[in-house]
Amino acid sequence: MNRKRVGVLISGRGSNMAAIVKAARNPAYPAEIVCVVSNRPDAAGLQFARDNSIAAHAIDHKQFSSREEFDSALNDYLQSQRLDIVACAGFMRIMSPVLTKAWAGRMINIHPSLLPLYKGTHTHARALADGAKVHGCSVHYVSAELDSGPVIARAEVPVLPGDTPKTLAARVLVEEHKLYPKALAMVALT
Ligand code: GRF
Repeated sequence: MNRKRVGVLISGRGSNMAAIVKAARNPAYPAEIVCVVSNRPDAAGLQFARDNSIAAHAIDHKQFSSREEFDSALNDYLQSQRLDIVACAGFMRIMSPVLTKAWAGRMINIHPSLLPLYKGTHTHARALADGAKVHGCSVHYVSAELDSGPVIARAEVPVLPGDTPKTLAARVLVEEHKLYPKALAMVALT
């Protein structure tokens, strides 16, 4: 099988990246994870990548004087890896067209809400404040506008009495770890 070459972008913990890496250990999985890149050199997920013999690369956004310069350096690295797909997994950066144009149709993201609801941050707190009965996560293509590209797949969880943003986030995260490997496989097969 011709497995698609995937790079994963992270900024921190990297638990979604780890879920993808674990899924890709199966030789029948249609994608291989060739690199993990973080904009934060201290991201915990980089160590997980190294421990799994995956190229782990940091490009510190603080070393650049503009968003476009950072995006351009990141794009150069991603292009050098000859990737088919870029998967953002907790990558906490707004992207300029330098990236969104270069990877249009080939860059995906996981977002902790049922898009198009709750784009942006603090999704769990906002769902609770609205009295939502159902919440969840979405994998979508990245477009120029934040959290607004076409949705690939979603998973729902119930909102339970007494939920806090923390308990709700934990319930959603369990679903994220199942949804992202499935959605990436779907994209890799298209
Ligand atoms: C996840 O909830 C993801 O949906 C959001 O940020 C969190 C990242 O967690 N974009 P992790 O780094 O994958 O553990």
